[in-house]
Amino acid sequence: IRVAILISGRGSNMQALAEAVASEDLPVDICTVLSNRADAAGLDWARARGLPADVLAHRDFASRAAFDAALRARLDALAPDYILLAGFMRVLGADFVRHFEGRIINIHPSLLPAFPGLHTHEQALAQGVQWHGCSVHFVTAVLDHGPIIAQGAIPVLAGDTPDSLAARLLPVEHRIYVQTLRWLAQGRVRLLGDGRVAVADAP
Ligand code: GRF
Repeated sequence: IRVAILISGRGSNMQALAEAVASEDLPVDICTVLSNRADAAGLDWARARGLPADVLAHRDFASRAAFDAALRARLDALAPDYILLAGFMRVLGADFVRHFEGRIINIHPSLLPAFPGLHTHEQALAQGVQWHGCSVHFVTAVLDHGPIIAQGAIPVLAGDTPDSLAARLLPVEHRIYVQTLRWLAQGRVRLLGDGRVAVADAP
């Protein structure tokens, strides 16, 4: 399968995905690592690895719609089977999402549907939940709301801070995103009509 990975910053999820593709020899072609920011640290890592890394700066566009249209054209030219958002910090418009319906996947640092949006670790601590986690989900027009493919959980410990939660969660994010990519590469992920996801048994 062909995948495009979209980042905005550090890119540790992108790195975990790319490392799994290489070390497990997954049938995955990473056709682009694309960032909306030229200063994303993940770009340097991708370039050093010989991955096709590119920038489409949202600042160069007058409107969200214009950026979305340019991003869509860029991705259409690459014909990815899946677009994996990995710390990509731009909200994609409904037209964009519809165009790539069922093919955009995101990782979000909460146990959805709890805590959509930003500052999820702060939200979890403020709510007093005892379990926190991360979710890989299909992207729909509603932010952080699409059908869930995989989740991972961690206990909230006494003394946890947003930073300690984020640090403990990150390796879990990497694990479930890589697991999702394996499932996608094996053709096992199916979007059911009712907004749920089925993962078929291993062949
Ligand atoms: C991750 O926590 C991801 O879930 C969130 O932003 C962070 C990105 O980290 N949306 P990285 O760029 O993958 O290292």
